[in-house]
Amino acid sequence: MHYAATHAASLADPAAFWAQQAELLAWDTPPTDTLSQDENGHYRWFHGGKLNTAGLCLDVHVRAGRGGQTALIYDSPVTNTVRTYTYAALLDVVARCAGGLRQLGVGVGDRVIIYMPNVPEAVVAMLACARLGAVHSVVFGGFAPAELAVRIDDARPKVLICAAGGMEFDRIIPYKPLVDLALELASHQPDFVAVMQREFVTAELQAPRDVTFASLLAAAPVPAVPVPATHPLYILYTSGTTGRPKGVVRDHGGHAVALRFSMEAVYGLAPGDVIFTGSDIGWAVGHSYIVYGPLLRGCTTVLFEGKPVRTPDAGTFWRIVAQHRVQVLFTAPTAIRAIKKEDPDGLLVRRYNLKSLRHLFLAGERCDPATYAWASALLGVPVVDHWWQTESGWPMLATLVGLQTMPAPRAGSAGFPVPGFDVQVLDEAGLPVPPGTTGLVAVRLPLPPGCFPTLWNDAARFREAYLAPFPGYYLSGDGGYRDADGYCFIMGRVDDVINIAGHRLSTGEMEEILAAHPAVAECAVLGVADALRGQVPLGLVVLKDGQTIAETALEAELVAAVRTRIGALACFRTVLVVARLPKTRSGKILRKTLRQLADGEAVVVPSTIDDPLILDEIDAALKRRAAVL
Ligand code: COA
Ligand code: AMP
Repeated sequence: MHYAATHAASLADPAAFWAQQAELLAWDTPPTDTLSQDENGHYRWFHGGKLNTAGLCLDVHVRAGRGGQTALIYDSPVTNTVRTYTYAALLDVVARCAGGLRQLGVGVGDRVIIYMPNVPEAVVAMLACARLGAVHSVVFGGFAPAELAVRIDDARPKVLICAAGGMEFDRIIPYKPLVDLALELASHQPDFVAVMQREFVTAELQAPRDVTFASLLAAAPVPAVPVPATHPLYILYTSGTTGRPKGVVRDHGGHAVALRFSMEAVYGLAPGDVIFTGSDIGWAVGHSYIVYGPLLRGCTTVLFEGKPVRTPDAGTFWRIVAQHRVQVLFTAPTAIRAIKKEDPDGLLVRRYNLKSLRHLFLAGERCDPATYAWASALLGVPVVDHWWQTESGWPMLATLVGLQTMPAPRAGSAGFPVPGFDVQVLDEAGLPVPPGTTGLVAVRLPLPPGCFPTLWNDAARFREAYLAPFPGYYLSGDGGYRDADGYCFIMGRVDDVINIAGHRLSTGEMEEILAAHPAVAECAVLGVADALRGQVPLGLVVLKDGQTIAETALEAELVAAVRTRIGALACFRTVLVVARLPKTRSGKILRKTLRQLADGEAVVVPSTIDDPLILDEIDAALKRRAAVL
């Protein structure tokens, strides 16, 4: 397959293109309409078809005689464990777990929340839900109870599955007390909480609500339930511009077709190849390329419980590549920067034989050219930055290493549109801009299979947030440009979302938390450049008249509030008290200007600014603060 012809074919006749891809899957009932629209006018793929994603991930391979192949390698330096599961073994445990969940009353369409670190039981729980036609929603373990509670109330799960705890470096984080607190905060209550006990932490169980995860596995195995292609497989919450997360929905049919295609075309992986995705199952990357993509393709996936550094050292990724003969390593640029910081000369790589490695894929944030150059030189394999979002579920821009005549990656660029994606850069009026001009990155509809068909419980928000701004397009929320050679560059969000160590968080939500403090009159939270995490949040607050609270005391209270409400992963650590915030004459806070000031960039003073002198005051405050830090 040649890239240009494949991409052109996918846009010229999307239905014909994806119908051909769909034929590569084992459907229980083949679809009647490849592309149709639902009652809301939203595009849907493979209407009329029936299949089961867990069946495609496991049963199909076992039936084809590949049950003895390794499906999953659990590599956990934090617990000193390496454990492998063949396809047959994984099928067995998933089928029993599904039986156990069914005994708890879980059936087609019921929701199950999973709050676990990267342990095989989490993958088993996801696949067991899929097997029953139940809808899983994995919540990243770093989120605080209040965030978990919001998701519980939105998804209304019948069962919540959690681990007794996780391990952050060498620190034990008990999860069960967080779950108990979340359930106190939530209005909705699941019927059961299934707890996976761990050697290093045992959770207290409250009968009859709490059961052990192990007890689920004692059930008799159940077969995969064929469900409509458009049936939801999972909900994954992601940060929007407000405190209310968006429940991105993924369906069974389109998702399976798209991920199978991507494994081959984007990552160049064949059945039996090994992929190590150094992410968390709580993120879209983890869903697609730790769990579903590799298993749909019959690959071996490495599930890593640890960090790129200090577990035990910055060579841990290289050790895994060598030990498990990994072909594709996929992680976030921040992980590479963390490794580079601890091992700048890459000495640890020399301890390992990385001959198996074909490509390093990066996503989650833009790969800065310095990190790109360092990793390329160190590993001697192509480094591929590729762009995607929770909403898309798979890459929209990439260098597709499985296709031919693909231009080589270029530093700073996320590559070219992936087949199925008609990526455009638009101006504020929704018109395409010429090459070299920065604009809003949008994708012409219909989005290909695998992308979210809607938001859970909120089709109206789906339309308003993504489709309404530019009719006929999906608005990504990212800004960027295309160069004269067609390479696309994604330069960052154009909304109130920031990216901290590859984690997507809402500054709007942080502002809501700061604004709730009794001393705060108004505030702005900005994402400022950070050498390790890409961005970190900075809070600027204006005190109410008459407030005398010391800046350090206020900072401590606000930092604690964000940590309690969102979680430590927000890395909210700095607050600056300022006299005023710069605004337009219509009262809008000039966040972009503030960010430019904080990053020491050249500030373009907007003509609409109310009082330009405020910028000097804030600049002085930032410099005072930097001098103290
Ligand atoms: N459970 C509980 N707490 C968690 C957590 C989890 N799953 N994940 C992160 N946290 C906590 C950390 O313990 C830390 O807490 P602290 O402030 O008390 O120290 C805080 O959240 C910030 O975490 P993080 O930003 O991950 O910092 P770190 O120093 O632990 O690690 C990196 C830094 C760069 C090594 C790490 O962020 C990383 O591996 N990033 C890759 C990200 C990634 O894979 N993203 C997915 C997109 S592809
Ligand atoms: P998430 O939904 O958590 O996967 O985050 C998606 C956001 O991460 C995107 O909207 C981008 O802002 C950013 N992102 C992901 N991958 C890239 C990339 N390769 N280049 C630039 N930004 C990226």
